[in-house]
Amino acid sequence: MSSLEAIAPSHDTREFRADVLTGLAHTPKRISSKYFYDRRGSLLFDRICETPEYYVTRCELEIMEACADDMARQLGEGVLLVEYGSGSSIKTRLLLDRLQAPAGYVPVDVSREHLHASCDRLRREHPGIEVAPVCADFTQSFALPRPARSVDHAAVYFPGSTIGNFTRDEAEQLVRQIAQLCGRKGGLLLGVDLKKDPAVIERAYNDAAGVTAEFNRNLLHRANRQLGADFDVDAFEHLAQYNQPLGRIESYLVSQCEQQVSIGESRFQFSAGEALGTEYSHKYDLEDIEKLAAAGGMNLRKVWTDSRRYFAVVHMVHDG
Ligand code: SAH
Ligand code: AVI
Repeated sequence: MSSLEAIAPSHDTREFRADVLTGLAHTPKRISSKYFYDRRGSLLFDRICETPEYYVTRCELEIMEACADDMARQLGEGVLLVEYGSGSSIKTRLLLDRLQAPAGYVPVDVSREHLHASCDRLRREHPGIEVAPVCADFTQSFALPRPARSVDHAAVYFPGSTIGNFTRDEAEQLVRQIAQLCGRKGGLLLGVDLKKDPAVIERAYNDAAGVTAEFNRNLLHRANRQLGADFDVDAFEHLAQYNQPLGRIESYLVSQCEQQVSIGESRFQFSAGEALGTEYSHKYDLEDIEKLAAAGGMNLRKVWTDSRRYFAVVHMVHDG
């Protein structure tokens, strides 16, 4: 914790503390996966994408490399491209060069330092495009920056299957919000991980080098650093298992012994084997995706998949 934060915690820290205290008081215990992403968490996520087991990023990149021209055409001329959960904007780079006279690019992410570092790189690589970052939680309302060029319409790009980190109801709510933000002329370009052999999915979330385990445990390191919590991080094990009926990977941190954790004045008891829920990663099929589009009053206009049909990028637009 910086000395400044010790005096006046930032809004981010206050929100993190409130959510952690509520989540640890809940039965079963849980903390939202959006808190994975401090500076270290964002770097660890980038390392996950390089592991041989995490097929998700490679499959989406395969689609982008083959189909970005077509996607750019679908998005249309004069688009303001708003990206949800932009991270390192790896896939976006393939799209930006192909857009026709874009009005600008608005990456939206909660991971402040990572967002700004990534924007610096993008501005160097794409000097012709105005990059206007917004550090915000995209589930809450946020103001869109107004670029210097005139905007014909806004479209949301939401890659990486980050939509999978929300429950099906939350995902529908998000798509409704996006449909409103884009108006009748815009649309949503969405990347979603598809249902497949559960063994392939489970391997992706249990990489042999233990990067995903470290990413999961970073939540506890972050709570120690930012909230002054006293989690014994090594006393928690990463667990990720596929819940077939619900079509999702569920990630937990499992307490290896009976222990107590303090955060300020609050104390939380963990029994041996007790699991703290940290993330859902829902997997979709075409029917699920159509249902999602319908929730926002939209239709699927185009679906692109990789050669193994592991991943899909879809473009949904308003009905009629
Ligand atoms: N789109 C990138 C990064 C995916 S990782 C890719 O496909 O590789 C998920 C990203 O979403 C992280 O950068 C994280 O900080 C961001 N994120 C997660 N929940 C968020 C929320 N509620 N609001 C804004 N950003 C969020
Ligand atoms: C960002 N999100 C879609 C990733 C996922 O696959 O759910 C985060 C992640 N968690 C573990 N590995 C990667």
